[in-house]
Amino acid sequence: MLINTWYVVAASSDLNTEPKGVRALGQDLVLFRDRDGKAHCCGNTCIHRGGSLCDGKVVEGTLQCPYHGWRFDGAGACVEIPSNLPDAKIPKRGRIDSYPVKEQWGWIFAFLGDLPREEQPEIPDEDLFPEYYAQDKGSDAYAYVSGVFLFEANWVRAIDNVLDPAHAFHVHSAFGNLGNQFVPPFKVDVGSGHTLSRHRFAPVDKTGKWREEIPDDRGDADNQIQFHFPGMIFRNDMYPRPGMHHFVVSSYTPLNEYQTLSYFIHGRNFAKEDEHNEDGLKRVVNVMEEDQVILKKVKPLQMPLSTTEELLIEADSHLVEFRKKVKASEARGWRIDSKKIEGDEEHAWAIPSPARGADSKNWVLKPLPLREGKPKSAQAAE
Ligand code: FES
Ligand SMILES: [Fe+2]
Repeated sequence: MLINTWYVVAASSDLNTEPKGVRALGQDLVLFRDRDGKAHCCGNTCIHRGGSLCDGKVVEGTLQCPYHGWRFDGAGACVEIPSNLPDAKIPKRGRIDSYPVKEQWGWIFAFLGDLPREEQPEIPDEDLFPEYYAQDKGSDAYAYVSGVFLFEANWVRAIDNVLDPAHAFHVHSAFGNLGNQFVPPFKVDVGSGHTLSRHRFAPVDKTGKWREEIPDDRGDADNQIQFHFPGMIFRNDMYPRPGMHHFVVSSYTPLNEYQTLSYFIHGRNFAKEDEHNEDGLKRVVNVMEEDQVILKKVKPLQMPLSTTEELLIEADSHLVEFRKKVKASEARGWRIDSKKIEGDEEHAWAIPSPARGADSKNWVLKPLPLREGKPKSAQAAE
């Protein structure tokens, strides 16, 4: 699992006036809204004596610990210790880690890492999901369904899978075509923050309601796959026949090394009546469930350390580019050393925040151990 990346930690609609506990990168985090409704994300462990902050309350826009009532503002600063006299000074270490937050597409993104603002990557917005903004301006070109799916799988394995056009034939009843499994050679466009590939698939028989919309005698289907690395956002566009378009935008957040939470939005420019929503949602979830059956059992459960420990072929090119980005982040020293903390019940850990990056002293909790990166010269050679 990597720090210094944006992750979707909740749906906006799930965060109201109460604090909300969420998991990411193997840690407990707490979300809350201040008096202006602005969302904040902090470590969930109270630095006094370890109270679980998400079980407390929001009081005057601050987060109050359920144990002794210490309060923290959105920046993580302790602003009140009720058992002290009102004018007593708050100790310097009276702060918890607080992470930058952005709400977009109905999701709450948190930047989990210690890079200063100017070095934090941007989350893709209109460039990746223009339909969302068009809808905001009144367009009804697409109908949407959304939801969340928990993969019992490592995050790299889960993302590998969506960047892999070949598995569709074997795994997915809705768009796999066992009669023609050839994956034409494709190019992967690699940008600083994203990777993109385009594919053509021979059509497969549709079933149920979509059969009326997508006839069997159509030509090959176009398919485009994109992944935005620092946002951990995937987009898949499918054009079952000219003029017809449906797509999914989904996020990938490691809860721990073996579970990955995926928020998704599916848009379609056909069968737009509400009565088709249930069926549309079922189709998306069905695809994820079919993937999950496979992903749960791949070995090793995490990405192998060396590419020679798997036999990767041309059809794997997109996921190879993704893995290169993972490796580049690891080389920068951003990989959490999960083995070091497994089963350790004598420490509470903190995902390092930007404030900690700026000043590593005067914190109560230890930062998560990270695997050693590589010197800059070695990174450049990767
Ligand atoms: S443990 Fe949070 S206030 Fe004491
Ligand atoms: Fe799949």
